[in-house]
Amino acid sequence: MIRPLIIAVFCVLLADGPATAAGGPTIDPSKIVTPKFSAKQRLGKLAYDAKCAVCHGKDTAGTNTGPPFLHKVYHPGHHGDASFFRATVQGARAHHWPFGDMPKVEGVSKPMIINIIKYVRAMQKANGIF
Ligand code: HEC
Repeated sequence: MIRPLIIAVFCVLLADGPATAAGGPTIDPSKIVTPKFSAKQRLGKLAYDAKCAVCHGKDTAGTNTGPPFLHKVYHPGHHGDASFFRATVQGARAHHWPFGDMPKVEGVSKPMIINIIKYVRAMQKANGIF
């Protein structure tokens, strides 16, 4: 007797969940909080928009070619700052999602990566990831 109910609840949860594109979750843009950025975070946003947003999405919301950073998987305790350097310089093998591998990104200097991290962490903080 309880089983149909459980299934029904599960379906509602699924239907209500984040829109799932080809690879994984994307975040509803209307729910994203944009904090006031420091100068370095603003520089990081410029670099992010130029080099990362094509896959990781505007406002770090994700696309159908890359995951959102507004996701607990990218909590600083799970993907620390070193993973941003590694992913940018070497690329990243697909392991969390079905998007495929991340290719290395050319033309991003170390100071740019540092600012990108500051920007991404500011977005994560404003949106309750940590
Ligand atoms: C061509 C698409 C693409 C671009 C451009 C891209 N990424 Fe990625 N990135 C991905 C995908 C796909 C993954 C997920 C791999 C997985 O875990 O399945 C990923 C994962 C990551 C991860 C997590 C790595 C790990 O250790 O799990 C970090 C950090 C990251 N990207 C940072 C960046 C930064 C910073 C930029 C810009 C400088 C960038 N990415 C540009 C596609 C991209």
